[in-house]
Amino acid sequence: HKPLRVGIAGLGTVGAGTVTVLRQNAAIIAARAGRPITVTAVSARDRTRDRGIATEGLNWHDDPVALAADPDVDVVVEVIGGSEGPAAETVRAAIRAGKPVVTANKALLALHGAELAALAETHGVPLGFEAAVAGGIPAIKALREGLAANEIISVSGILNGTCNYILTVMREQGRDFAEVLADAQAFGYAEADPAFDINGVDAAHKLAILGALAFGQPVDFSALHVEGIRRITALDIAFARELGFRIKLLGIARRTADGVSMRVHPAMVPEAEEIAQVDGVFNAVVAEGNFVGRVMLMGRGAGAGPTASAVVADLIDLARGRLTPIWGAEGDALGQLPALPMSAH
Ligand code: HSE
Repeated sequence: HKPLRVGIAGLGTVGAGTVTVLRQNAAIIAARAGRPITVTAVSARDRTRDRGIATEGLNWHDDPVALAADPDVDVVVEVIGGSEGPAAETVRAAIRAGKPVVTANKALLALHGAELAALAETHGVPLGFEAAVAGGIPAIKALREGLAANEIISVSGILNGTCNYILTVMREQGRDFAEVLADAQAFGYAEADPAFDINGVDAAHKLAILGALAFGQPVDFSALHVEGIRRITALDIAFARELGFRIKLLGIARRTADGVSMRVHPAMVPEAEEIAQVDGVFNAVVAEGNFVGRVMLMGRGAGAGPTASAVVADLIDLARGRLTPIWGAEGDALGQLPALPMSAH
């Protein structure tokens, strides 16, 4: 069988992780995909940095847009990050060249999802984004496939691994915010600009994507409330604990009488609730459907392995022809995703 040839734009934590997963699990991936999935090209600014992966024999591009045009590339994995600049240009260039895209870029989808989905549909190419929400948790596939029979009443959860890790370590070890944030960065959990994590914007990007999929209608972001964890102190955490609560950064999207309400903010969660027990880099996605009831998925929401696991799942779907360009027909509203009010930082 002809291999599916992958070009990876961006060799950071997730890009290098994707190369590792594809190589280490090559045999089971080929079996499940019906053909081998091989990395043929990569792009990154610095060719000399040691990323723990062998890059001999790969086509190297300094410019990710050139990677998208590489004739040895069938599908582009965009893991550069950022809503503008090279990430957006690469995704547009790939789609225009008729190449499917798999992306982990939640900021790009939250801000330009409508335009990109329309472009992908026009060119008839699939756009996979399982890795954009909650790292290794198959939240997108759960909503689009597993829960497809249901009217979704709410979708919520812990959507930022960095914040959850910080809150957990602050609670368990009484350590300082800045010090714990530095750990989260060292583990590869945090965004390039960690302000997106701690201000709640990264969680809001993910909630926007989940909300659009869950409710199949444009979400009214004028009412979106975004609040991060920057002002949470060790004292807040200690008081919460004394009262039997844990502080969690939650994202909540809910169907209401007048539309959809979406918000991200720290919340006091009773210790006995399952979601209160979701600690460290773990995320949780809770969906409530009118027939299935409540479904909760939890798993690692950030880091190389979990995020690459989701990227490769989309590549396998693509190789199998299961990743489709048809958005509207599935009732997804990503094509109508409005821009997040970025003033909410
Ligand atoms: N910075 C993100 C987080 C990475 O901490 O959850 C996964 O999107």
